[in-house]
Amino acid sequence: MSTPHNSAKKGDIAKTVLMPGDPLRAKFIAENFLTDPVCYNEVRGMLGFTGTYKGVPVSVQGSGMGMPSIGIYSYELFNEYDVENIIRVGTAGAIADNVQLRDVIIAMSTSTNSAYGDQYRLPGKYAPTASWALLSKAVEAAKANGSRYHVGNILSSDTFYDDANSLADWQKMGVLGIEMEAAALYMNAARAGKNALCILTVSDCPLKGLSTSAEERQSTFLDMMKIALETAIAD
Ligand code: HPA
Repeated sequence: MSTPHNSAKKGDIAKTVLMPGDPLRAKFIAENFLTDPVCYNEVRGMLGFTGTYKGVPVSVQGSGMGMPSIGIYSYELFNEYDVENIIRVGTAGAIADNVQLRDVIIAMSTSTNSAYGDQYRLPGKYAPTASWALLSKAVEAAKANGSRYHVGNILSSDTFYDDANSLADWQKMGVLGIEMEAAALYMNAARAGKNALCILTVSDCPLKGLSTSAEERQSTFLDMMKIALETAIAD
């Protein structure tokens, strides 16, 4: 069995999948953190691997950028491959004033300007929310890792280049940071009765005109991976 976007066979993919946006990041994680990784997908270059971490099977697969892309890959993982848990690992722009470069954000909930949720035809606005089981494990892992972390609401935006310059308005509502995928992931998880979490490192502060260097991004990314992998294997 395969899908139009994934050549994996049922059983090739672990119950828990880590999802970076960049497929080359997926390859890097597989090669540096997993034991005996096997590549299960190369369709459209959206690489996916399964290996073990501390003896527990874990997969890692790129999601691409934006909600339409993560919407497709996470839908298929949850509904075609019996995946139970997806942990997105990505970068964010800071919105809240106390969120600094290199901080970790654990997204309890996501606001969004996307129409992704319209498909559910709900008579109101849905609030995409993380799995408490994954969230509470990630908080424990972040504490154990000594990371500076924040837990709260983020913005999943359809626009990276935003003509409306609306970040100050989201800041007034206590939103921690901006990224482009989590809302669709959380909605797919809810609809499938599965679990999702998004863990982010802050790569830039758009309101302050600050950004991290390539080396800083690499080292904070490695730190976040440890949190995500410990979350993936925690009982
Ligand atoms: N906007 C949207 N997504 C992002 C950003 C941003 O400023 N930084 C990292 N991901």
